Amino acid sequence: MASELDDALAIARQVAGEAAALLRGVRAADVRSKSNPRDLVTEWDTRAEELVRARLAALTPDIPMVGEEGGGDATAARRWLVDPIDGTVNFAHGLPLWTVSIALEGAAGGEVGVVTAPALGWTFWARRAGGAWAERGGELAALAVSGVAELGSALLVTGFPYDRATNPRNNFAEWEHFQRRAGACRRLGAASLDLCLVASGALDGYWERWLQPWDVAAGALVVVEAGGRVTDTRGEPFVATAGDVVASNGAIHDMIVSELAEVRS
Ligand code: IPD
Ligand code: CA
Ligand code: CA
Repeated sequence: MASELDDALAIARQVAGEAAALLRGVRAADVRSKSNPRDLVTEWDTRAEELVRARLAALTPDIPMVGEEGGGDATAARRWLVDPIDGTVNFAHGLPLWTVSIALEGAAGGEVGVVTAPALGWTFWARRAGGAWAERGGELAALAVSGVAELGSALLVTGFPYDRATNPRNNFAEWEHFQRRAGACRRLGAASLDLCLVASGALDGYWERWLQPWDVAAGALVVVEAGGRVTDTRGEPFVATAGDVVASNGAIHDMIVSELAEVRS
């Protein structure tokens, strides 16, 4: 199995690299809104997904793919989960915090994850039981989560749903709560990058709700393989399709979960 997963990881890294090459240096074009005016899609989201879909179909014809823009068989037990641009709002504005995220998920969870941020020159990857790695500016490094053990000195990150103006569970109360309790909180705008920054130790914890499996599947595996912990927001086992995630260095995990419960109560 390990060598099969190594092959799948090599394919995911190759295809992510091809999508990165397509997207690097382009300007957002044909920006349209989807579910509401805040939820954007560009011509490049579609083009990148088409490239990834064609390449994965050629290289792994037996494994279906589910992509954010083109869909796919979401019921398949083993499938590729692809977000062609995670952080489209950033991409559309020329802010370099966006990624291509590719995960292979099986019945027992994440098998392979690759997250590449072309405008930053960063790529993160992991395979189950194989550790987590990054290449940044040509430097290869094994990833390890931080050792921060106090919420009061932790740097946290989160995100907000596109329907935040009308959704009563919009994460605003949680944001305010953690702004008081944590060392500092950030909103970067790309869930996959948030997760990989937890894996690399730059951030200590992350929580978010209302996510899609292609936002989180790759990054969650990178966190786990970097020695971190990933659950849902109640501390129950993480399921990529549930849309609910807490990821951390492990040391502050239960604190984040219990603070979220305090906000809920
Ligand atoms: C979004 C980003 C953002 C998160 C949103 C996602 P998109 O993905 O990951 O950080 O807060 O919930 O939908 O739309 O840029 O692919
Ligand atoms: Ca996304
Ligand atoms: Ca996207």
